[in-house]
Amino acid sequence: MNMKLWREILYPYEMAVDELVLKFNNIQREYRNAGEYSPIESVTGRVKKIASILEKGNRKNIEIEHLTEQLDDIAGIRIICQFVEDIYKVVEIIERRTDIEIIQYKDYISNQKLSGYRSYHVITRYPVQTREGQKKVKVEIQIRTLAMNFWAVIEHSMQYKYHEHIPEHIRERLSASSEAIIQLDNEMSLIRDEIMDAQNSIRQKDLIVGEILNLIHGLYRTANKREILKIQDEFYKVYKKNDIALLRTFLEELDAIAEGYRAQDAEGDL
Ligand code: GTP
Ligand code: MG
Repeated sequence: MNMKLWREILYPYEMAVDELVLKFNNIQREYRNAGEYSPIESVTGRVKKIASILEKGNRKNIEIEHLTEQLDDIAGIRIICQFVEDIYKVVEIIERRTDIEIIQYKDYISNQKLSGYRSYHVITRYPVQTREGQKKVKVEIQIRTLAMNFWAVIEHSMQYKYHEHIPEHIRERLSASSEAIIQLDNEMSLIRDEIMDAQNSIRQKDLIVGEILNLIHGLYRTANKREILKIQDEFYKVYKKNDIALLRTFLEELDAIAEGYRAQDAEGDL
């Protein structure tokens, strides 16, 4: 197979990765726009490099023409969560979707790997529309916490450095730190509600402040300058009090004022 053919083979995988990264980011945005906590912290994706595909095929003794059906991770999506609980929420989200077909679950959280690796993998099939019609490609979705990811990234760089023959004393350290990661994830889960509350109020405040600023901006077209300055002053005073309830009341009042101006404006247009 030459380079051009490989490009053609990998094209649907690239489409799948692009589309899924976008879709998972949209899920996150949906939660956040609703002022809710998102189980998805961040999403990345990649298509395996041709050299790595060949190397893996060689290592696993797979004939070149069977590579795309036998390798699960030519297309890979990585979803990072803050808490272990979020991982299972994300799995449920994937299960409910009609555009992603699940082929296999690999639960390396309940069944941690010997290396100490922990993560939840869902092997899926995802349809993309190419100019030759629909193509279903395999996509490996890895779901893990920030802490699990920290460990996996470090351990992966050690594997790379030592060509997968990590010296015993480093392996022991990695194993010990993997235990520490479990401990860390557990500790964080214990204060999850409190952390979620804090993050929610930060986001809600951002949303409310954003809406207030939009309304004030809109008033520039209709209200007089003195009144806008008064409103801005008032807003600043409320803002400094750092109280979401007060900000929300201010937004409601401002909305009523803006509505009044909009009505006037509409009359003027008649
Ligand atoms: P490979 O491990 O990639 O040969 O594939 P596999 O068919 O054995 O699947 P497996 O579920 O073991 O691994 C899939 C992916 O999970 C890998 O490509 C890595 O991204 C990740 N992974 C699995 N084991 C480890 C590990 O011990 N350390 C790290 N850092 N990542 C791992
Ligand atoms: Mg493996």
